[in-house]
Amino acid sequence: MIEHRKGISIAVLLIVAPPLVTLIATAHQMIGTGGDGLIRARAVTASAPPATQAPATAPAASGAPGAPGATPGATPGATPGTAAGTAPAPTAAAAPPKPPAPVPGRSALDFSASRPAWETFLRDADPAAGKQLAANGKPAAGVQACVACHGQAGITPSGGIFPNLAGLSSEYLAKQLADFRSGARVQPLMNTVARALSEQEIGQVAAYYGTLAGPPMHVGEFGGDAARKLDVQGDGARALPACANCHGLRGMGEGPLIPRLAGQSREYFTDQMNAFRSGSRQNDDVGVMRAFSQRLTDAEIQALAAYYAGPAPQQR
Ligand code: HEC
Ligand code: HEC
Repeated sequence: MIEHRKGISIAVLLIVAPPLVTLIATAHQMIGTGGDGLIRARAVTASAPPATQAPATAPAASGAPGAPGATPGATPGATPGTAAGTAPAPTAAAAPPKPPAPVPGRSALDFSASRPAWETFLRDADPAAGKQLAANGKPAAGVQACVACHGQAGITPSGGIFPNLAGLSSEYLAKQLADFRSGARVQPLMNTVARALSEQEIGQVAAYYGTLAGPPMHVGEFGGDAARKLDVQGDGARALPACANCHGLRGMGEGPLIPRLAGQSREYFTDQMNAFRSGSRQNDDVGVMRAFSQRLTDAEIQALAAYYAGPAPQQR
């Protein structure tokens, strides 16, 4: 009987205790030194730095009216700096008012769409003026004609390190020229050319080359199954998406910013893949090409180069 009653009272205690503890703790937080006090203390320390900085700047601006408490605080800091002349630490500590450092990136309150600068180069760009520039260059600024390296109508007869420009979109071309100009993409010949062009001229040549049809396609004749598989299927084991996912079927290019690969020479293709791989080309904005190229072997890059290039120019 006694055992039984003891059991009941223990059970009741176990049921009542947790809510009771919660209740007491809540009451303590609300009334005592708990939550509210802590919140207020934090709010005070957060606003404290501006309050101490403001008086420090006032004396430096010579004789502000207010804050008698702050002046003695600021003077001892400043005097040793001026008296000793050599004391480095105090001068640094009593550093003059610094304008608030600009926050990197866009303001959280800026809701306008972020647009790349080259978009404005293309606005109302005249392709006919671009054609002139491509044919004649800009002799006064020492710029060779684009056709000298990129071929008539944007198809390089010799291939080699010179890419075809025909078949690429105006947007991609403008972006690349802007990147060569800013140094975001590094290649000495093209850095020189792009820096000698105005923004308007970049828009013009990009608009012109964007109108030209690419070279005839021979994609897939070479390179074998390994290259074909990478193009159309990718390799899930290496988290490699199919190249065609982005570059379009048979490397035809897709959308405004993903370049055509079809018909670029083996050498140019390999150069670019190696440049992405080593990080010497970094203007693939989110780094996809740097990531994917690192997952390919040398042999695969060779095979893909042959796959997209088709027969060597002299064989065509
Ligand atoms: C002296 C030779 C030379 C001249 C002249 C030249 N280029 Fe180039 N261009 C190159 C080379 C080499 C490359 C390859 C750069 C690389 O390997 O990164 C290239 C690359 C490019 C690319 C990048 C293509 C791509 O697929 O990413 C564009 C765009 C371009 N040139 C535009 C022009 C325009 C427009 C002109 C004329 C105003 C011009 N180039 C004049 C040598 C030249
Ligand atoms: C997620 C999309 C994506 C995939 C998948 C992708 N690429 Fe790209 N690739 C790009 C973009 C974007 C660029 C242009 C970067 C820039 O703005 O300079 C590019 C550029 C290139 C270039 C440089 C072309 C030129 O004219 O300079 C080569 C070469 C290339 N890719 C090859 C490949 C190959 C080969 C594969 C498959 C193994 C592949 N890419 C898969 C997005 C992709």
